[in-house]
Amino acid sequence: MNDIDTLGSDALGRIATAQDLDTVESLRVAFLGKQGSISGLLKTLGGMSPEERQAEGPRIHALRESVTATLAERKAALEGAALEARLAAERIDLTLPAPEAPRGSVHPVSQVMDELAEIFADMGFSVATGPEIEDDWHNFTALNMPESHPARAMHDTFYFPDRSAEGREMLLRTHTSPVQIRAMLAQGAPLRIIAPGRVYRSDSDATHTPMFHQIEGLVIDKGIHLGHLKWTLETLLKAFFERDDVVLRLRPSYFPFTEPSVEVDTGFAFEGGRRVVGGSGDEPGHGWMELLGSGMVNRKVLEAGGLDPDEWQGFAFGVGVDRLAMLKYGMNDLRAFFDGDRRWLAHYGFAALDVPTLSAGVGTAA
Ligand code: PHE
Repeated sequence: MNDIDTLGSDALGRIATAQDLDTVESLRVAFLGKQGSISGLLKTLGGMSPEERQAEGPRIHALRESVTATLAERKAALEGAALEARLAAERIDLTLPAPEAPRGSVHPVSQVMDELAEIFADMGFSVATGPEIEDDWHNFTALNMPESHPARAMHDTFYFPDRSAEGREMLLRTHTSPVQIRAMLAQGAPLRIIAPGRVYRSDSDATHTPMFHQIEGLVIDKGIHLGHLKWTLETLLKAFFERDDVVLRLRPSYFPFTEPSVEVDTGFAFEGGRRVVGGSGDEPGHGWMELLGSGMVNRKVLEAGGLDPDEWQGFAFGVGVDRLAMLKYGMNDLRAFFDGDRRWLAHYGFAALDVPTLSAGVGTAA
């Protein structure tokens, strides 16, 4: 009889002081496992007389229950403590102060590209891309500029010394127009894309840098004509400059990849010594400035893009993103765009959260 009491107080004491879950588990095995001491006591019930069993049975069962309950309690307490310790160890200090002034800003070129993408997305255009390291077939030949075409010389191209695996001359793309070819070949028609990106020409002064940015537009569909081009550009420029009095002048021009080709001028006025887009260039004190090149996609270009020119027509345009940024936000030297001068960036940059939206007027608050 005393055995049971001794076993009981010994078991409960050891369980209460167990310091980890492994110990709790080994105690459980020692008392309640198949070979455990309490299990051993239960087995002795079979050999007892009915009177003995009536006296001993309830004591042994009570012991088993209290040991089981105490084990569960201890286990829960140790698990709780382990969780507390882990939470304390993984705590993150959220009280670190934010920088006094926001650091960094969105470059005006990125901002303008985002504004343009927003405007064009609203007209159903998606964004296409192509490599800056291009081959001469995509950059020239497929755009109706075969080798020895004089227009090639006008592009001041940076060439690489080595040719591609297909034997093509490799170069830094001189315009975003090769993306026209890539988009036609990859997606077929109909097509409505813009392709913003870097382009390269060996040229440098206040308005030219060896690397600059263009955005290409291409629409291919049935029955497309110059009217669609004019409407698209007018809609674009009104949304971009955030004024309704933008006036366009279309002048006949020449690009090998468009026929007819049209250069687009916009009217401007001088305000505070700088050009501000708006109004007709023919008004007194106003002028016209050239803004972009465009035209109806040349049949040969459609063919190079794998399309039947008797079935599909299209228009294309290419515009300098840096120039648009200068006109809208009033910088006068293109070279400063790429100097990485933090004072310039702080002045002309945009807050990272200032994402352009049409409803807010694409280019709110510099
Ligand atoms: N790729 C031409 C340039 O860089 C611009 C252009 C694009 C003209 C598309 C017509 C059509 O000058």
